[in-house]
Amino acid sequence: MKLAVVGGGSTYTPELIDGFARLRDELPVTEIALIDPDLKRLEVVSGMARRMLAHAGHPARVLATSSVEEGVAGARAVLFQLRVGGQAARDVDETLPLRCGCVGQETTGAGGLAKALRTVPIVLDIAEKVRTHAPDAWIVDFTNPVGIVTRALLDAGHRAIGLCNVAIGFQRRFAEALGVPPSRISLGHVGLNHLTWERAVYLDGEDVLPALLAEHAESLADDLALRPALLRRLGVVPSYYLRYFYDHDAVVEEQRAKPSRAAEVAAMETRLLEMYADPSVVEKPALLGERGGAYYSEAAVALIASLLGDRPGTHVVNVRNHGTLPFLADEAVIEVPAAVSGTGAAPLPVPPVEPLYAGLIAHVSAYETLALEAARLGGADRVRDALLAHPLIGQDATAEELTGLLLEANRAYLPWT
Ligand code: G6P
Ligand code: MN
Repeated sequence: MKLAVVGGGSTYTPELIDGFARLRDELPVTEIALIDPDLKRLEVVSGMARRMLAHAGHPARVLATSSVEEGVAGARAVLFQLRVGGQAARDVDETLPLRCGCVGQETTGAGGLAKALRTVPIVLDIAEKVRTHAPDAWIVDFTNPVGIVTRALLDAGHRAIGLCNVAIGFQRRFAEALGVPPSRISLGHVGLNHLTWERAVYLDGEDVLPALLAEHAESLADDLALRPALLRRLGVVPSYYLRYFYDHDAVVEEQRAKPSRAAEVAAMETRLLEMYADPSVVEKPALLGERGGAYYSEAAVALIASLLGDRPGTHVVNVRNHGTLPFLADEAVIEVPAAVSGTGAAPLPVPPVEPLYAGLIAHVSAYETLALEAARLGGADRVRDALLAHPLIGQDATAEELTGLLLEANRAYLPWT
C-alpha cells in the first residue's frame, strides 16, 4: 500500500514515520512518497525517514520528490501537512493581530484567516492533481486551519477528511489520569476544529467525566492554563484553544511579553534538521515531543486503516455537519466522533448542545464560511467581512485596520492583492 505525504519535508515527518513503523500491523505500508518543493530539506528528512524504517526493520521504501503528480500516483491515501510560507509567515500571523489588541494565533482569529487565505488556493491546486493521478485516494488533511481547508476540499468534490490531534491528546490524557489503556476511553467531543469541548468521557461506554473532574480538575485545568473552577462549574473540558476566547485579553498580554511560538518552533526546527542530517540518528528525537503534534501519527494510522476498509472504527474527524448540529448549515464542517469505514465517515449523533457552546460554535462557523469565501475568491471586502464576523474581532475599526495589515504582510502569497 502506497501513501503520499504532501509537505513531506516537514520536521514532523519522523513523527509520522515512527507511527508507521510502530503500527505496521494496523497499516501495512509498502511505499511512502514524501513530496515537498524544498528539495534540500526533503533530502535531509527523507534520509532520516529511510534510516528510521531500516532501523525498525520496516520494509517500506521512501520516494522523495518535488512532483505532486509523481508522488501521489498510485497512492491510496494522501496526507496534507503543508505550511505555506513556513514559520516566517506563521510569525506574522502570531504577532500582527497583537498590534490591534487581538490574539495572535496561527489558527484562531486574524492569524487563522491569514493562514486560510494563503493555504486554500494551494491546497485546492494540489487536490486537483490528486484527483487526476490518484482518483481513488483519500485525502487526509492536517493542514491548518483544518476546518476551513477540509470544507474547501469537500466543496470542490474531493474525497477528503480533516484530522487534528486534540481529541487523541485528550483520550491519552484522560486514560493516564484514570490509569487505564487509551483503547477503553472514548470522547463526547463536539465543536469545530480548534473550538471543541469534551462533554463526556466514556470508560468502557460509561460516562466518567463527573468523577474525573471531581478528582483531576486542578491538573487538567493546569494543562490548559484555565481556572479549575471553570472546568468544575461547566462540567466539561474545553480544548486549550478555548483559552484564546475565555482568557483572550490575558493571552494578548502574555503574547506581547514573549517570543512567538513560530520563533520557538523555528529554533527547534533548526536543531531537528541538524539531527535528521546526522547519519547516526535513527530514531525520532525526544525534541520532537516538544512540538504540539503529539500522537498525530497514531491518529493518522488508525484513521487511514479505517478508510482503507480493513478496520472500521470511531474516530474524531472533521466532516460535513449534515444535521448533526441542527443549528449549523448542513454543509458546515464540524469536528465530532464519526463512524469511519471504506465508504467514508458518518458523524455519530450528538446530544443537544447547550447554548453556552452552541452560540460560539455557530458564530465561528459563520466566520469560517466567510473566511473560505475570502480565500477562494479574494478581495479586501471579503477579508473585512470575515474579520467582522469573528467573535474575537467583531469591531469595524479593528476589522478595517487588520485587513490592511494582513493583506500587506501576505501580499507575496495572495495573487489578487
Ligand atoms: C497541535 C494542533 C495542530 C498544530 C500544532 C502546532 O498539534 O492540533 O493543529 O499545528 O499543535 O504545534 P507547534 O509545535 O507547531 O506549535
Ligand atoms: Mn489541530
